[in-house]
Amino acid sequence: MLVLGIETSCDETGVALYDSRRGLVADALHSQIAIHAEYGGVVPELASRDHVRKTLPLIRQILDQAGLTLDSLNGIAYTEGPGLIGALLVGSSIGRSLALALGVPAIGVHHMEGHLLAPMLEDSPPEFPFVALLVSGGHTMLVEVAGVGRYRVLGETLDDAAGEAFDKTAKLLGLPYPGGPELAKLAERGDAKRFGFPRPMTDRPGLDLSFSGLKTHTRQLWQNGHQDEQTRADIAAGFQLAVTDTLSIKCRRALQQIRCGQLVVAGGVGANRMLRRQLSQQADKHGWAVSYPRPEFCTDNGAMIAYAGCQRLLAGDTAALDIQARPRWSLETLEPIDR
Ligand code: KG4
Ligand code: ZN
Repeated sequence: MLVLGIETSCDETGVALYDSRRGLVADALHSQIAIHAEYGGVVPELASRDHVRKTLPLIRQILDQAGLTLDSLNGIAYTEGPGLIGALLVGSSIGRSLALALGVPAIGVHHMEGHLLAPMLEDSPPEFPFVALLVSGGHTMLVEVAGVGRYRVLGETLDDAAGEAFDKTAKLLGLPYPGGPELAKLAERGDAKRFGFPRPMTDRPGLDLSFSGLKTHTRQLWQNGHQDEQTRADIAAGFQLAVTDTLSIKCRRALQQIRCGQLVVAGGVGANRMLRRQLSQQADKHGWAVSYPRPEFCTDNGAMIAYAGCQRLLAGDTAALDIQARPRWSLETLEPIDR
């Protein structure tokens, strides 16, 4: 089954072709960084308009690359939520109507299900059950994954998502949008030990997280200190280490709690090198396996939507004819495919 995947939930237009027998056939991504940079963050209306401009040309581009035509498609998957309503509506409208026109089934995919199944696109995919650390700009959660659609949230952030904390902290330090990768780059030149940072919610049991205190701590350090380049890098390094330490402590706890030896890391912050280094060290020490999607499939992309959609279409799930977009959508309400 050849499935076209369309991702338009936020500030990246991602499309991909996934074949259930051959694997990933083609994918392409258009980033809107240049459009939002001057505003210091995503402007939803500009995001929607750019998705309108880019989605169809990108679909044509990957079909051409693969030497295929629209007639080769057996199904279409698009991100139905969660995300920005206007942006989601673009992908849903294009995906749902294209499927109707071609007479093939369509499926609306949960964006976070896409992220947590993204490691399945790699050569040695993890086996169920596993614990997924989902760390993106909008979500931060630890999920027990027993199969496609079998998700139990073990813990989540009580305030900011990890990516959001990276982005807000970066902005506070005067770094350009998108802040997360910029802050990570700056942190490489900093001394993480110069300033003390808390490891929020690690001194009590439980798997919930909180990052807003770290942001406040950073603001105080920056506003009350010498605002020179080295201080900026040292604060960035201290902040990054505090976030990645906290995440790895919670991952260790989650794996111990449900007696599982496989961790999967997904979502934009999963591209962070310090986080990967720390989790790999922990994995070696405690004998777990840890899998990551390749960095470009950690951040938003069409491949993860095509893959997740393909699994659901193969199981017989299909979307109704109306065009749906769900800005808020709980992962735990999804149905398992082997029900
Ligand atoms: O998964 P994603 O592309 O979009 C959402 O679904 O939110 O994640 C984007 C988030 C942003 O907050 C971005 O700053 C963060 O991931 N991010 C990073 C890195 N690369 C992306 N944060 C820290 N270090 C990185 N290398
Ligand atoms: Zn995402």
